[in-house]
Amino acid sequence: MERLGQQFSTSSSFPLNNDVHSCTPIQSPKNICRGFGVMGDQVVDHFHPMKGNAFYNQNSRFQTEATQPAMPLLARASNECALAQTVRVAEFGCSQGINSNAPVSVVLQNILKRTTCEVSVAHEDLPSNDFGPLMKLLASPEGYPAKFRSVYPSVIGRSFFEQCHPSESLSVSFSLCAAHFLSTCPATLPLNFHPNASATSQDDRFAFQQQASADLLRFLDVRAAELMSGGQLVVSVVAQSSPSKVYPVLERTVGALRSLIDDQVLTADDAKALTCPVFYRSLEDVQVTFERLPSLSLKEISLVDVTNPLWQDFRSGLLTVGDYAAKARSFWEAIFEPFFVAQLRGVWKGDSLRAEEVAVGLFDRLELAMRDDPVDCNFELVYFRAAKL
Ligand SMILES: C[S@@+](CC[C@H](N)C(=O)[O-])C[C@H]1O[C@@H](n2cnc3c(N)ncnc32)[C@H](O)[C@@H]1O
Repeated sequence: MERLGQQFSTSSSFPLNNDVHSCTPIQSPKNICRGFGVMGDQVVDHFHPMKGNAFYNQNSRFQTEATQPAMPLLARASNECALAQTVRVAEFGCSQGINSNAPVSVVLQNILKRTTCEVSVAHEDLPSNDFGPLMKLLASPEGYPAKFRSVYPSVIGRSFFEQCHPSESLSVSFSLCAAHFLSTCPATLPLNFHPNASATSQDDRFAFQQQASADLLRFLDVRAAELMSGGQLVVSVVAQSSPSKVYPVLERTVGALRSLIDDQVLTADDAKALTCPVFYRSLEDVQVTFERLPSLSLKEISLVDVTNPLWQDFRSGLLTVGDYAAKARSFWEAIFEPFFVAQLRGVWKGDSLRAEEVAVGLFDRLELAMRDDPVDCNFELVYFRAAKL
């Protein structure tokens, strides 16, 4: 099979209309892998990790809940995968590690029933990711290395759009709740920041859907290259079963952004930079990608509506409305704040203080809106398992 990476060097892989959209990827495979694009005359970096100093770890109860449906898939992957003299396991998009320990433990439990070989486990995320909390966990009595024999952990700072492991070396590879982040934005959305918001036009949504399709193809192609024959891959991504499925927390954030523009804290032109390189695909979007990947066989795929434990706690009276609004804000801030601050810093020529103040203002307004009229922060995810032929 021709490596898809080569196809990405041609502009035909990116169905962009540069007359309509002002943010375009730089058409070189290396830069696409590394997340650079151009907006006006500025080169922008689209890759930003979750909020550091363990803030993501402290505010990711939803993502912890969302690991649950992946566990049976990980168990089946590690029972069925091919094994080598040294068994190699890899995670992609590990963030600060709060949701790495349990999935890796499931994989190790199953693999170590089948072999006495040594196992290497590599956790990958962006070079700018806060790997510190994961390192501490791995060295602590709670970490899986303390619980399993002959297991050797490591971390890798590299984009998951690049190959991160030697060819045909991995037995099990997995990525949870991460591959909905894109390599670039194919359009700018001045007033609604997120392509899955209800206000996004059909044309803009289509541009993001196409970008997400190209990015998933690239992500899966490099994962396929890393897997040994018979190796297995488990992935979950945030999804949107249809364009009419509305995510209330996303709509509230759009409202907060528009109120900043109405109050002249931000111009509509500044707000263009806040367009997020992300897209929540449908199950069908994921499924069709496999038709273009003859080296991977799709074994199972499903869409799950995951309830946020914060919402559950609020509904059952365990959280007051004020506590719920504050925690929902932090959940969302942990994901988007680093991106917003970096983008505004770019717009305002390095004025970090102003960028941080405006980002705080945006999340303050989101929290207020949640307190006045609380809505859920639940999301659908697609889960799938595939095997390398
Ligand atoms: C929502 S977090 C999920 C973290 C963890 N897997 C979990 O389930 O809690 C998404 C992660 O994907 C990472 N990410 C986004 N784009 C990436 C890329 N191009 N390469 C590697 N990691 C990326 C982010 O840095 C972030 O740590």
